[in-house]
Amino acid sequence: MKSGREGLGGSVGLSHLLLRRAVRPGAAVVDATCGRGHDTLFLARLVGGKGTVWAFDIQEDALAAARELLDGEGCLTQVRLVNAGHERMTEYVREPVRGVVFNLGFLPGAGRDVITRPHTTLAALEQAAHTLLPGGIIAISLYTGHAGGVEEAEAVEHWAAQLPIRSFNAWLSRQLNRSAAAPYLVLVEKLA
Ligand SMILES: C[S@@+](CC[C@H](N)C(=O)[O-])C[C@H]1O[C@@H](n2cnc3c(N)ncnc32)[C@H](O)[C@@H]1O
Repeated sequence: MKSGREGLGGSVGLSHLLLRRAVRPGAAVVDATCGRGHDTLFLARLVGGKGTVWAFDIQEDALAAARELLDGEGCLTQVRLVNAGHERMTEYVREPVRGVVFNLGFLPGAGRDVITRPHTTLAALEQAAHTLLPGGIIAISLYTGHAGGVEEAEAVEHWAAQLPIRSFNAWLSRQLNRSAAAPYLVLVEKLA
């Protein structure tokens, strides 16, 4: 539990707050960029032992670290760790989901040669939007401080902006009192 002094905690903290509202125990959700599993752990606690978290990453080492974290926290049973790109999401996820998390960019501490890329990110977002249940949300944390980050963020904003208003709400949240390079959040809510 966060103290009030820690506040919302940037784009990831804000996305967690909104996911808490949309995701109930027993639900299925996706972490599209598992990395070392911090968002996956948050989602695993949210859905509980009767839910399912599908967690994708292309880096085996990161998934191994995530497995250790989840196991240590007693949350591994409800998590399916998938060593594949999120652009293959619907090959694995065959059930409707209440939430999808993207934390784009590179894995801190692992070098910047493996980064998320617009083409695969957009393919995954399309699949996420189809797989999402009404009332569910897609939370996308965007980073612009690395090479390729601005282009990817622009592609995601453009994708979200063209979603039909009768079926989706699309939001952008940026911290005005941080540097322009600070991570920010695009949020997509599917309507009934
Ligand atoms: C910002 S990090 C995610 C951090 C993670 N949420 C955590 O808690 O550690 C972005 C991750 O996206 C992964 N990634 C890059 N391209 C991917 C793809 N096509 N599909 C799935 N994951 C990908 C990277 O390997 C990296 O681990």
